[in-house]
Amino acid sequence: MELLRTVEEVRRWRAEVRSAGRRLGFVPTMGALHAGHRSLIDTARAANEAVAVSIFVNPTQFGPQEDFAHYPRPLEADLALCREAGVDAVFHPEPETMYPLGFCTWVEVRGPLAESFEGAVRPGHFRGVATVVLKLFEIVQPDRAYFGQKDAQQACLVRRMIADLNLPVELHVCPTVREADGLALSSRNVYLTPEQRRMAPILFQALQRAEAAILQGERRAQTVIQIMEETMATVPEARLDYAAVVDPNSFLPVKTISDDVLLLLAARFGNTRLIDNLPISFPRNA
Ligand code: PAF
Repeated sequence: MELLRTVEEVRRWRAEVRSAGRRLGFVPTMGALHAGHRSLIDTARAANEAVAVSIFVNPTQFGPQEDFAHYPRPLEADLALCREAGVDAVFHPEPETMYPLGFCTWVEVRGPLAESFEGAVRPGHFRGVATVVLKLFEIVQPDRAYFGQKDAQQACLVRRMIADLNLPVELHVCPTVREADGLALSSRNVYLTPEQRRMAPILFQALQRAEAAILQGERRAQTVIQIMEETMATVPEARLDYAAVVDPNSFLPVKTISDDVLLLLAARFGNTRLIDNLPISFPRNA
């Protein structure tokens, strides 16, 4: 496995992969890799002759009060996981490589997709995400890129950016990986105290109760939201940021459920903010 630190090193490696006729799958990450990342890597590995992973804690997607300084950076363990998973190259740039002195070009995604939910709670977050993802795509030039459903709004925004900017990248969104008790894997789960960790699966329970109501015929989004809110309220330590039923492509709130929807939840457990979601699909008529 190659550890690439500069753009020039990636370009050289990429040229070799291309000239060997190997298709390149790419998994962008901020490190602190867990089984969720591993499943993205495995999916990329199965479908491509070469796989690259980036490990870069992107400063521009963190707000001033967020956890950039404390974000976990277990580089050796991350490299071991990548090696074990058969990754061909890891791109691990310095912040100055991605944001050199004088950097002033940004990707600004506008509208509800970027400005609601995570975009509203974390102003500037998606500008940082879109900018770094475009830069990574330009540097790595993957044929396919793999993102997790866990960060559904991010995946949707990247899909929009790929379409809007005609990027030659095929996006694959892979299912959320969960602990046995339903908690979605996240690098931030390590911040939870044992007590908070015990309570955190309430997020998935709330989503499941909402799903069950829809499957039993409930079509009023407000009632489904109420089910999620009431379930979350059974754990008073969980402070709900939002519970919503949205269109999975636009992230616009839905009033009456008549087609595929996405259930969204975000809550704080102490200082740790967790998000989760559940896509609900209706069978298509042939
Ligand atoms: O999902 C993440 O880990 C990050 O937002 C990403 C896509 C690597 C961009 O920094």
